[in-house]
Amino acid sequence: MKFKTFTLILICLCLSLSFAFSQEDKFLLHHEEIGPHQRPLVRLNHERHSEIIDCNRCHHEYDENENNIGEDGQSCSGCHGKVESMENPVPLMKAFHIRCKGCHEKRLSRGKTSGPVMCGKCHKMP
Ligand code: HEC
Ligand code: HEC
Ligand code: HEC
Ligand code: HEC
Repeated sequence: MKFKTFTLILICLCLSLSFAFSQEDKFLLHHEEIGPHQRPLVRLNHERHSEIIDCNRCHHEYDENENNIGEDGQSCSGCHGKVESMENPVPLMKAFHIRCKGCHEKRLSRGKTSGPVMCGKCHKMP
């Protein structure tokens, strides 16, 4: 009986922990797949971005009717590999630069609130 309760508590703890991690508000993007990083890591305020833009502006995956069903938040590196090839036309680093910097640039040019576009403003020491 005691052992059962203990296991149950343990399972609950693990679950709430993994939940906490997947719900992280801000985190450093650190894709090992890219190889050793030359620049300081980029901090993404995931919560703030999620408040102002739809999940599937960043997370994408298309069904057979080309509807974007990416709102579950799949990891970018699940599909974008490091090296550009026929099967991987948009390598991981490029995917981030197009998506992140691209939106910031577009919004800036329209005079809207935006994020950084300079290298050192995204890649900055904490
Ligand atoms: C500004 C772009 C952006 C927006 C908007 C956004 N996300 Fe994300 N999200 C990311 C990035 C980048 C990661 C890290 C992905 C990686 O590790 O490759 C991430 C990670 C996640 C993860 C963890 C994925 C994993 O397995 O590593 C989940 C879950 C997630 N997001 C869900 C959501 C949901 C739900 C929303 C909308 C409420 C949302 N995201 C909005 C960019 C975004
Ligand atoms: C389920 C697989 C999958 C996931 C997960 C995924 N992508 Fe993609 N992505 C693709 C495919 C497929 C293409 C199209 C490549 C082509 O042009 O043939 C693409 C294209 C892109 C492009 C270039 C075209 C465009 O839409 O502007 C960007 C930028 C991009 N992805 C960023 C991201 C980012 C950032 C993430 C993580 C938040 C992500 N992707 C997650 C599969 C995925
Ligand atoms: C569709 C538009 C869009 C996309 C995509 C986007 N951003 Fe932003 N970003 C914004 C806006 C708008 C702001 C200003 C937020 C505010 O006013 O609080 C911002 C602010 C920021 C800031 C400065 C404030 C902060 O939150 O720390 C950083 C850093 C940033 N973004 C990084 C990223 C990264 C990294 C990605 C890609 C994973 C990304 N952004 C993708 C729109 C976007
Ligand atoms: C809007 C934010 C943003 C801006 C601006 C930006 N980057 Fe990045 N960059 C990223 C993100 C996000 C990654 C992916 C980091 C990861 O997940 O490991 C990345 C990855 C990289 C990488 C591969 C990782 C490393 O550190 O070696 C290099 C190199 C890089 N960027 C260089 C640049 C340069 C040079 C500029 C300016 C011309 C620039 N970046 C501007 C967000 C940005």
